[in-house]
Amino acid sequence: MRKLRKAVFPVAGLGTRFLPATKAIPKEMLTVVDRPVIQYVVDEARDAGIEHFIFVTGRNKAVIEDHFDVQFELYNTLAERGKDDQLARLQQLQPLPGQTSFTRQQVPLGLGHAVWCARDLVGDEPFALLLPDMIMQSEKGCLKEMVELYEETGNNIVAVQECDPAETHKYGIVGRGESVANGFRITGMVEKPKPGTAPSNLYINGRYILQPEIFEVLSRQEKGAGNEIQLTDAMLKLEQPFYGYHYRGRTFDCGSPEGFIEANVAFALWRPDINRSMADTIEGLLRDIRPVERRAVSR
Ligand code: UTP
Repeated sequence: MRKLRKAVFPVAGLGTRFLPATKAIPKEMLTVVDRPVIQYVVDEARDAGIEHFIFVTGRNKAVIEDHFDVQFELYNTLAERGKDDQLARLQQLQPLPGQTSFTRQQVPLGLGHAVWCARDLVGDEPFALLLPDMIMQSEKGCLKEMVELYEETGNNIVAVQECDPAETHKYGIVGRGESVANGFRITGMVEKPKPGTAPSNLYINGRYILQPEIFEVLSRQEKGAGNEIQLTDAMLKLEQPFYGYHYRGRTFDCGSPEGFIEANVAFALWRPDINRSMADTIEGLLRDIRPVERRAVSR
């Protein structure tokens, strides 16, 4: 089995669901509590043993590269002022020299196209793909669990979660086959199935381990839904087994304002240093704002 060393982060999307916030700021740099969304996803990959981080970027996204660089003046100033804790925190998150690569998608032609842009940086080895919009909360990282399944099965792995059966038409849905190790064999995949036709309510949540043969399929540049080059279409055409890992943690879609706000509340409550005051604040807000809303509605 080929060892998993690299991860791809497609960050070239336009973020139209989050305008005007994302007009000049990449959505991946919006902060959940005190770190940008992209940092959570890179940390998840690092915790899973990933050694090389590949970013597929676009225009207006250069600040992502700066975020993962050494900020020499800042580090010096923190050291001079004796702010050792802050400095240590930054250094702990800092990728080592040569551990990051950046390429540009140039034109946002779809997720499949963004992944294909990483083909030379990935080379002939398996890779993890993490959609940075989706951030996850659990004791053990989603990708780490997937790596364990990969070590048992090889091939391709996607993480899935349950959605409301009435909402399957919004997602990529998989069919569930026999159980294998901490996962199951996938019997089929369908992107946004028509209501009543979904094989299950297990949706693909934004974490993948893929074999490099996917690049050959993507190189055909076939367009699908929305006239975009779709990753799911390429996965369907890849004649290799797929396994599913059923993730039981929480997932937040930070590409939408609602998901982003939920993520901020959930991660703030998870942080021991701010949990207490946050919990009190939320209780207070619920007490104060709810009656005002009720008054507004009844007027
Ligand atoms: P989304 O469709 O959620 O991202 O793509 P988007 O296009 O930025 O979002 P909206 O709908 O306009 O708000 C899922 C992931 O794929 C990346 C996005 O950056 C996101 O991480 N992506 C999508 C690309 O890198 N390139 C593309 O052409 C499309």
